[in-house]
Amino acid sequence: MAFVNDNYCNLKDSYLFSQIAQKVNAYVAEHPEKKVIRMGIGDVTLPLAPAVIDAMQKAVAEMGVKETFRGYGPEQGYDFLHEAIVKYYAGFGVTLASDEIFISDGAKSDCGNITDIFSNANTILIPDPVYPVYLDTNIMCGRKIVYMDGKPENNFLPMPDDSVKADIIYLCSPNNPTGAVYTKEQLEAWVAYALKNDAVILYDAAYEAFVDDPAIPRSIFVVEDARKCAIELCSLSKTAGFTGTRCGYTVVPHALVRKTESGKELELNKMWLRRQTTKFNGVPYIIQRGAEAVFSEQGQKECREMLAFYKENARIMAEGLRRKGIKFYGVLALWAKDTSACPLLAAVKTLSKQWNALKKNCKQNNKNAWFLTRRFCF
Ligand SMILES: Cc1ncc(COP(=O)(O)O)c(C=O)c1O
Repeated sequence: MAFVNDNYCNLKDSYLFSQIAQKVNAYVAEHPEKKVIRMGIGDVTLPLAPAVIDAMQKAVAEMGVKETFRGYGPEQGYDFLHEAIVKYYAGFGVTLASDEIFISDGAKSDCGNITDIFSNANTILIPDPVYPVYLDTNIMCGRKIVYMDGKPENNFLPMPDDSVKADIIYLCSPNNPTGAVYTKEQLEAWVAYALKNDAVILYDAAYEAFVDDPAIPRSIFVVEDARKCAIELCSLSKTAGFTGTRCGYTVVPHALVRKTESGKELELNKMWLRRQTTKFNGVPYIIQRGAEAVFSEQGQKECREMLAFYKENARIMAEGLRRKGIKFYGVLALWAKDTSACPLLAAVKTLSKQWNALKKNCKQNNKNAWFLTRRFCF
């Protein structure tokens, strides 16, 4: 008899964002006369940058010529893309070795797959609210999960609490959905906590390109000791509109070493390489050439223009809500408590119950009954 994974019984029936879509669709069916701006899951609305398209077209042409055609590539990505990312990080003061970077088909896969290299005996610390994939992927492994509240009182930036013992800590900065960003000092505090507890931080920097202020870290590795306790996950979906093109990367420093339950020391970089070479066959050459172009001077200029457009959308939405007198929080998404002023906001009001349900393993009450109302970037 084949037994299936019990832990799936602990998952909510459907993924949060598909429930948002269902609610919005039901609202539209009931109110066909209303014009609805859909911002539930969020997606990019602008096409890929010309520099990216140009690079991919050249790569397509190479694939049609015997001498330049490529078959299976290195599972961890081509050197040309590693080098482009090394240079990009150097731009904000972080030195990486090329073989510390693993190219993937996006940060969502890496967020889920990284669970493979950790024991299920670990206690997982997850901010609330945050990108829901961290929670569901760990529920699938049957791990103990504890939460830390992001709320107005802490600017949606929970800080380490010495009374909470955690082995794996998820941090997302800028945070999806609140847009809250950790300062260097705050990240230093997290790194100190992780080192003290022999914990590992999984740092999701998917929205790093939205950071304009040079004083705000775009990578946890601006904190030198983070190399001993952190893995960074990143995506080109937000940086360059790659949501449908699929490319991201994960940085696993060589200095990151932890023990198995039986006491054997392992380098996490080697473990992740082993995992990826076993279960993943690499991102297509054409896509990696497009990704390389994102980090070129022209690509960066074009992507920055795209981000400016999305940020302007955010500004317009925020301005509209302010005019209507609706109190809200957030940069990447809007969080409002009072949905009465807008019928569509009221239609998605039950989402707060969804967050509650997602937290059924959690002892805390959901004090933050914020309604994920409208996501105005992507
Ligand atoms: C915080 C965060 N991490 C990761 C992802 C996934 O990105 P990707 O498209 O690279 O899978 C998202 C997508 O919305 C996100 O918001």
